[in-house]
Amino acid sequence: MSRFKPLRYHVVLAAVYASFVNATYLPGRSCKAFPGTAYWPSETQWNHFNDSLSGRLLQATPPAAVCHPDWPAYDPSACSDVKSDWSVYEYHSENPVSIMWDQFTNDTCLPKEEFPCSARGYPAYVVNATTSEHVKLGVDFARTYDIRLVVKNTGHDYMGRSIAPGGLSIWTHHLNSIHHHVGPFKLDDCDTSIPGNAVTVGAGAQMYDIYSATDAFNETIVGGGGKSVGIGGYITGGGHSILAPRFGLAADQVLQMEMVTPAGKILTVNENQHPDLFWAMRGGGGSTFGVLTSVTLKTYPTPKLLSTAWMAVTDPNAPFLYDVIAYALSQFPSMGDAGLSGYTFITSRLPNPVPSPGAPEELAGVLGQFVLQETENVQSLQNILNPINQTLKERWLGAVQVITSTRPYSSFLAWFEDHYDQGTAGNSSYLVSRLLDRHALESDEAALANAVKEGMSISGGLGAYIVSGKGVHDASPRGGSNAVNPGWRTTYVHTRFPAIQRNRKDRGY
Ligand SMILES: Cc1cc2nc3c(=O)[nH]c(=O)nc-3n(C[C@H](O)[C@H](O)[C@H](O)COP(=O)(O)OP(=O)(O)OC[C@H]3O[C@@H](n4cnc5c(N)ncnc54)[C@H](O)[C@@H]3O)c2cc1C
Ligand SMILES: *[C@@H]1O[C@H](CO)[C@@H](O)[C@H](O)[C@H]1NC(C)=O
Ligand SMILES: *[C@@H]1O[C@H](CO)[C@@H](O)[C@H](O)[C@H]1NC(C)=O
Ligand SMILES: *[C@@H]1O[C@H](CO)[C@@H](O)[C@H](O)[C@H]1NC(C)=O
Ligand SMILES: *[C@@H]1O[C@H](CO)[C@@H](O)[C@H](O)[C@H]1NC(C)=O
Ligand SMILES: *[C@@H]1O[C@H](CO)[C@@H](O)[C@H](O)[C@H]1NC(C)=O
Ligand SMILES: *[C@@H]1O[C@H](CO)[C@@H](O)[C@H](O)[C@H]1NC(C)=O
Repeated sequence: MSRFKPLRYHVVLAAVYASFVNATYLPGRSCKAFPGTAYWPSETQWNHFNDSLSGRLLQATPPAAVCHPDWPAYDPSACSDVKSDWSVYEYHSENPVSIMWDQFTNDTCLPKEEFPCSARGYPAYVVNATTSEHVKLGVDFARTYDIRLVVKNTGHDYMGRSIAPGGLSIWTHHLNSIHHHVGPFKLDDCDTSIPGNAVTVGAGAQMYDIYSATDAFNETIVGGGGKSVGIGGYITGGGHSILAPRFGLAADQVLQMEMVTPAGKILTVNENQHPDLFWAMRGGGGSTFGVLTSVTLKTYPTPKLLSTAWMAVTDPNAPFLYDVIAYALSQFPSMGDAGLSGYTFITSRLPNPVPSPGAPEELAGVLGQFVLQETENVQSLQNILNPINQTLKERWLGAVQVITSTRPYSSFLAWFEDHYDQGTAGNSSYLVSRLLDRHALESDEAALANAVKEGMSISGGLGAYIVSGKGVHDASPRGGSNAVNPGWRTTYVHTRFPAIQRNRKDRGY
């Protein structure tokens, strides 16, 4: 009999503990609370939570519910807008729960009347946060009631981490203030002053808004290619940029951050205060160590850019196609060392973008968009590219065409206005990517040709971005280091294979 006493004692203790923290959490339960289960907070508890947030709690509705007659939100004219907006990044970033890629809701509510719509793929509630205190309240509520917590900023995430079925979502989109500082920047609570100008932005601030605000001071941040990508996921993920080969990654530019920890503490972190969190939040991954509420980034005088569209193309059926591509890729480290950066798209078959009588209807090869910074001198660009053009022409006896067109830009923003990422959302997009260093690119052209051929057989296209180089290799992030994947410190090229899922016939794909 007495053997059971300790057990009862623990049961009583657990009950006391549970009532003490006002939680339905039961020790040993392995699943989070889910809508419809006994552990889910009551209506009254949600209402109290909403009151504590001054009414900023939203009930989540799948955005495409307007297309489905069995939903109260059904509205055919709103549906036709959602249908046409579904491919637009900004539509999803401005919606409290919508995300760019369909597969992360398991296609549970698409803007297609012919397929059923359910709320199963979406969070239950959303905190529309505008202050760190709102974020803290959300984190505390989710912890207390053992609810799955998710942070959604824009929904650009390629791994679906900005959405969770039945969860509580903290929407950081409206934490979007932008304040420019004329240096030196003084860190919070200590005597360290960091030379140079800076900008403090809310975690929801988006690339284009930050570029525009800093451009008013003839400055720029090291930022990414998508207009609506948000700083929250970008900075915590490391952040590559066409400017990074010169200045380092975006995470290398961080001077200070404000964040909310899983325990609900609002902290200002820098090289002196909570240096471990400061290290981890710069590259350690979105929604991992806490919720970022704001970040201070070093700014740079905006560079003048010489921009060139460069195509090295041949017949898609040419037996040497992958040799041509591998040769071009093998030149990227030396192009990078010479100051060139940019984005290239490698294709095994594309309609000729400049069709003309007699010209081939389809092309294959490398289509690049390069920049050289702080110069207007076309000769300096030609010095880099001419030897490569020459080899391409001579080695394949004229079967490779090199087409270039060059123009100068007076600022990074001016360049960005023409060259931002103009892709579309609204498909099921899975990405596979690899970081390639000098050895991978230069040491064995035949092996590289085989690897590219193998990869392209899956997707037909490959992005190869020169977004790393000397500036990233030699970066000196504050505090000595950060959590960015160390592979970046020897990388020249970030490659990505886009793969579109087409196997959901039951959802029209
Ligand atoms: C069109 C396009 C262009 C891109 N261009 C580039 C580029 O040039 N360079 C580059 O490096 N990347 C680029 N990316 C990738 C992009 O940086 C990542 O998808 C990034 O995670 C997006 O962050 P977000 O906050 O906008 O999106 P979200 O999907 O909302 O968030 C992404 C992740 O970060 C988490 N998160 C968001 N905000 C916070 C926060 N405040 N605190 C803690 N966690 C948070 C989310 O929970 C999620 O895990 C691009 C993506 C797209 C779709
Ligand atoms: C939260 O309160 C606001 C204002 O009172 C109200 O408009 C909103 O519907 C409430 N949210 C929820 C989920 O009940
Ligand atoms: C991807 O989205 C675009 C734009 O919405 C659409 O035209 C295209 O057909 C889609 N592709 C697939 C494979 O679904
Ligand atoms: C996703 O949808 C498919 C088909 O409707 C279903 O079989 C599967 O269980 C769903 N997956 C999840 C994780 O809900
Ligand atoms: C979220 O909050 C912002 C800022 O207060 C407000 O403009 C916006 O309308 C709110 N969004 C929703 C869906 O309530
Ligand atoms: C930015 O540069 C322009 C052009 O050189 C100049 O006219 C303007 O005064 C500068 N603005 C600031 C804020 O320095
Ligand atoms: C190679 O490209 C450059 C610059 O893009 C162009 O100006 C030049 O004429 C080309 N050179 C050769 C040899 O084709």
